[in-house]
Amino acid sequence: MAKIRIDAKATSLCRTRPCMIITTLHENGIVNAGTFGAYTNAGPKEIAIAIGKPSHTYQNIKRTGEFVINIPSQDHIAALETCGESIPPDRSELDAAGLTAAPTVRIKTPLIAEFVANIECEFWKEMEIGYHSLVIGKAVCGHLGEEYLDESGSIDVIKARVPFGIRYPDPIYAVLGNPKSADET
Ligand SMILES: Cc1cc2nc3c(=O)[nH]c(=O)nc-3n(C[C@H](O)[C@H](O)[C@H](O)COP(=O)(O)O)c2cc1C
Repeated sequence: MAKIRIDAKATSLCRTRPCMIITTLHENGIVNAGTFGAYTNAGPKEIAIAIGKPSHTYQNIKRTGEFVINIPSQDHIAALETCGESIPPDRSELDAAGLTAAPTVRIKTPLIAEFVANIECEFWKEMEIGYHSLVIGKAVCGHLGEEYLDESGSIDVIKARVPFGIRYPDPIYAVLGNPKSADET
């Protein structure tokens, strides 16, 4: 395979994760919701997310020390775009996206009821990277729609039709299909 050099946008070659919406609490108690795609699980309980420091999500996490990661299905691609907008703190992105807040178990911030999975997190530490901060949270509780449980005890991302943002900032998403075992190749 011949390869071309893409130096200026080399990190954009790393579009390998499904998108998620992070819910946080504003000071006035209204639920904020922001869309994020630059993250990874970084340890047995740790999840690292690159979050723009001016965002409400970042400011709320720093003030409250907690947040919820919500994993959508293909049915909620429009919500990913709605929550990618900055809506003033007196209005919730959840209302704008037609989504429902539901109580969590270990923290105060609500989760998104319609989404296939939710991870309650507590803020642990961060590393500033220019405009963004790499925020690391510790997962304290997880929720998964029972129909999406796979044999490994985790989420079946194919059955759940979890969308990946494949050309951000263009609103183009894709879901995985046709899985192959290494034995088959
Ligand atoms: C598909 C998608 C992925 C995004 N990924 C990120 C990301 O990883 N980091 C980030 O800082 N912003 C990301 N954004 C932009 C934020 O969603 C946007 O700044 C939003 O206004 C944040 O909301 P908030 O101010 O309510 O926190 C993404 C937006 C979209 C639509």
